[in-house]
Amino acid sequence: RHLSKCVVTGDFEVAAKMMLPARSWSYVSSSSNSGLSMAANLDSWSAVRFRPRVLRDVQTVSTVSSILGHRCPFPFYISPMGILGRAHANAEVELVRGFRRSGIHGVISTVSTKTTEEIASSLTEALERHDDSRDVSAAPQLHFQLYTSPDREAAIKLIHRVKAAGFRSLWVTVDTPVLGKRTIDRRQLAEEALAMGSDEQARAAGLGIVTHVRQNQVSASLAWTDLEWIKKEWGGPLVVKGIQCAEDAKLAMDYGCQGILLSNHGGRQLHSAPDALSTLLEIRAYCPEVLGNLEVFVDGGLRDGADVLKALCLGAKGVGVGRPFFYALAAYGTRGVERCIEILAEELATAMRLVGITSLDQVHPDLVNARRLANE
Ligand code: FNR
Repeated sequence: RHLSKCVVTGDFEVAAKMMLPARSWSYVSSSSNSGLSMAANLDSWSAVRFRPRVLRDVQTVSTVSSILGHRCPFPFYISPMGILGRAHANAEVELVRGFRRSGIHGVISTVSTKTTEEIASSLTEALERHDDSRDVSAAPQLHFQLYTSPDREAAIKLIHRVKAAGFRSLWVTVDTPVLGKRTIDRRQLAEEALAMGSDEQARAAGLGIVTHVRQNQVSASLAWTDLEWIKKEWGGPLVVKGIQCAEDAKLAMDYGCQGILLSNHGGRQLHSAPDALSTLLEIRAYCPEVLGNLEVFVDGGLRDGADVLKALCLGAKGVGVGRPFFYALAAYGTRGVERCIEILAEELATAMRLVGITSLDQVHPDLVNARRLANE
């Protein structure tokens, strides 16, 4: 499939499925248990409808936004995804090169294929290469997603490395004290083991991923109070990734975090987890002060620039997009990443014009059917 034929983000998934090895495909497409959490993510945004205003002169439109004080050209960023070596041989380096032209932000995973330093310097190198097509007013930025190792010394060392490499903020993932049940992944591993040996080995391999993956990378004993030393060692803006109810949103605020990400990890962790939209509506109903005090981000199942606008109308500061970028990177490398950004950006600008706004400070809950969704 030629890249020019990719006109919606879903086209990258089709392209990637055709060329990815089974193990990589199962890794990215996997969700937990029956797949309900992931399916609910996709459905949730589809249930939001706009209430457009007309006759408002939408000739000129700006999608400019910011993340934690850093300007960005769009209110969406690339979600952290581990082991991008399974998408592309050049992994995160290839991904980050795709940021140069647009100036988008990306959050880099603790479990990246390339080192923290390699990824940071690949952005600097990409920016230094002379290129007239780059929008020089927009500088791409990198943020870092932290899985907190049970070995505190190791965690502190990593935080210091991230700081030295110039990452702008730290996103602490809190929805993964243990790995969720990754169904497709387990079947794939079992199949590989079966091809080599006995049924018993296959079952062990299928379960093996739970203990094998991230055993040394994630602490199941992580608690709210740990945010204190993390904050101290980091010394910069902190975002809690994986908030799934209003009470915890409030707690994150009380602990002095600068941002929260409402997320169920792309439907890969808890079975029957709430989608980010439900959590956002809960916060609107029970602790709306959070929306005024913190930058609230959402992710999971957002696939269209119009979905991004829906989230912003409901109070989100920005939106993370995960799998579409994995697929785009896998199928087309840097050019795929650039194209995926272009698609979302164009959809966003069009949706803004069609609902009757010209800049993101005009977003408002009255532009969507929020009351009906929240049963207000
Ligand atoms: C993830 N996600 C994730 N999150 C995190 O905090 N650390 C990580 O290393 C990863 N790794 C990862 C790998 C892959 C292949 C996927 C698909 C997801 C979760 C990710 O940051 C984000 O929350 C979801 O991907 C958002 O949902 P969508 O856009 O993929 O539907």
